[in-house]
Amino acid sequence: MCGIMGYIGNGNAVPVIIDGLSKLEYRGYDSAGIAIYKPSQEKKQQPLLVDQKGEPETSGSAIIEYEDAYIEIIKKKGRLTEMIEVLGEFPTTSLAIGHTRWATHGVPSDANAHPHTDCSGRIALVHNGIIENYAGLRKQLILEGHDFVSETDTEVMVHLIEKYYNGSLEEAVRKALTYVHGSFAIVVICADEPDKIIAAKKASPMIVGLGEGETFLASDIPAIIGKTKRVYIIEDDEFVVIKSDSVVITDFEGNPIAKEIFEVTWDVEAAEKGGYEHFMLKEIHEQPTALRETLRGNIKNNMIDLSDLGIDDIFTDVEKIYIVACGTAYHAGLVGRTVLEKLARISVETDIASEFRYRDILWNPHSVMMVISQSGETADTLAVLREAKRNGIKVLAVTNVVGSSVAREADRVIYTHAGPEIAVASTKAYSTQLLVMYLLGLHLARVRGTCSPQELAELAEEITHIDELVEQVLTEEDKIKKLAEKYQGVQDTFFLGRGLDYAVAMEGALKLKEISYIHAEAYAAGELKHGPLALIDEGVPVLALITQDNLVEKTMSNIKEVKARGAVVVAICKENLQEACQECDEQILLPNVNPILAPMVSVVPLQIFSYYMAIFRGADVDKPRNLAKSVTVE
Ligand code: M6R
Repeated sequence: MCGIMGYIGNGNAVPVIIDGLSKLEYRGYDSAGIAIYKPSQEKKQQPLLVDQKGEPETSGSAIIEYEDAYIEIIKKKGRLTEMIEVLGEFPTTSLAIGHTRWATHGVPSDANAHPHTDCSGRIALVHNGIIENYAGLRKQLILEGHDFVSETDTEVMVHLIEKYYNGSLEEAVRKALTYVHGSFAIVVICADEPDKIIAAKKASPMIVGLGEGETFLASDIPAIIGKTKRVYIIEDDEFVVIKSDSVVITDFEGNPIAKEIFEVTWDVEAAEKGGYEHFMLKEIHEQPTALRETLRGNIKNNMIDLSDLGIDDIFTDVEKIYIVACGTAYHAGLVGRTVLEKLARISVETDIASEFRYRDILWNPHSVMMVISQSGETADTLAVLREAKRNGIKVLAVTNVVGSSVAREADRVIYTHAGPEIAVASTKAYSTQLLVMYLLGLHLARVRGTCSPQELAELAEEITHIDELVEQVLTEEDKIKKLAEKYQGVQDTFFLGRGLDYAVAMEGALKLKEISYIHAEAYAAGELKHGPLALIDEGVPVLALITQDNLVEKTMSNIKEVKARGAVVVAICKENLQEACQECDEQILLPNVNPILAPMVSVVPLQIFSYYMAIFRGADVDKPRNLAKSVTVE
């Protein structure tokens, strides 16, 4: 969602802001803007005295006039490049803030783009989040004479600051904050106080980067990683005053907060495309490496052993695990349910965070809440985490982002170690989340004695080589690309599977629709004839996942049903099941793997297929329309 960038220091702020915003593009946005501090300037003078030829006389003196310092706002609907075009040659300044907006209140437009200013144009603000009580505030401020020029919730914030501005930006922002409800990361500058940037955070991410004689503010680390690796992660209800050489962090009332510097361990290359045309393709290919990272340190004596992660105590008397997440992470949680129930024999309920948070849950006091989130900032997932804690339930977070809100607020954390995932479509985050499900399942199975040592050792052995199997599937890229080329013109697709194959089908359908904009439905193969079979028509592609040895015959019966109605069936099946899948029109073969581990390999062709479908249809693969990488609003 919205990306924020701020800079103050002895370098030129404008290129830093533009670079930072470009690194935040992955978050999803529909307009971009920048507020540039323009220092006081000497006005151009007419020479007081001229000689007869009109040349200035050397004698005589001019009264030098200065133009007031001011803030220039450039903002534009559309891509960052369109805003840069309007900006033209980069001006030089020590202070600027920038924003990429993902519309919530008000359509994407130049007027609704951030930064927003007060009536005088001397205070500028950017915001990520939602001011929930904006309507009442706006009405009141209009009655008091403030002029509003946008439809956004954000604009009330800058007018409120104007209302309370009395020579101290810091005091005005503090006062304004006492009137707003909702989620926000705000960054504010004032033409009359060019030595500082003020920022505040509640439920929307923000970090401060520490340079030499320069300080940065951003929504996420990739925006500043090329400039510094020393950051402060700003927590909810924190208020920040940054100058070029200092950072003061307090609560909203002004009580000081001591904070440790967080050293970022990954580098610029990890957040760049590294020769691939898109981040998504790069991240698909990074999966074997990411899986090795996730696995690292978790095998002891040929067994999966997570005891070093310090999570065992929350599982001692566990009767139930809730797994809650959104989107792709939810799909990983669906696999997690089967894996944990089968291996560790614990009852598991997996739900979507935006649904779970409004259910009247009958909490089992002997339960653990597991939230899964790549970004660790997803608003609904965070809300569930907090609700579980309020009910005395211990929370285990599975996340990719060290220091994210989910990681900080959970009782225990397992990091997925996928490295930065930039493409909106999640790929390596999903496969590493799956791997964590297996590691946890096998660890708990060992601790609880629910699987035989032989079974545990066999699965641990297969997991140790799962990266190689994924590598093997990646070699099928060309074949899958050709399939995508063939089917690029379709309107509708179906993804079928049973058991774990159904969970992967859901992920495959999500991937296809989010980046190629093709309608894709995932269905439990056995459920098809209860309604959706009516949609199967001549030439509709059906991608069938066939990896569960005990369910092959059942799934094949369903495939016959769709074929009888004209569907073209692409089977994604394990080599040992190839024979059984002969009747399918196309086959993508997967290496033989224990059925329970099959999702780790079967998802890969679906990711590649979606990628190339989007490419052939000319879609913006890394930044699909209407979507954001980190969904920080409800
Ligand atoms: O950061 P999170 O894992 O919490 O994000 C959850 C979903 O928004 C995310 O997985 C989304 O569905 C992806 N775009 C799917 O590719």
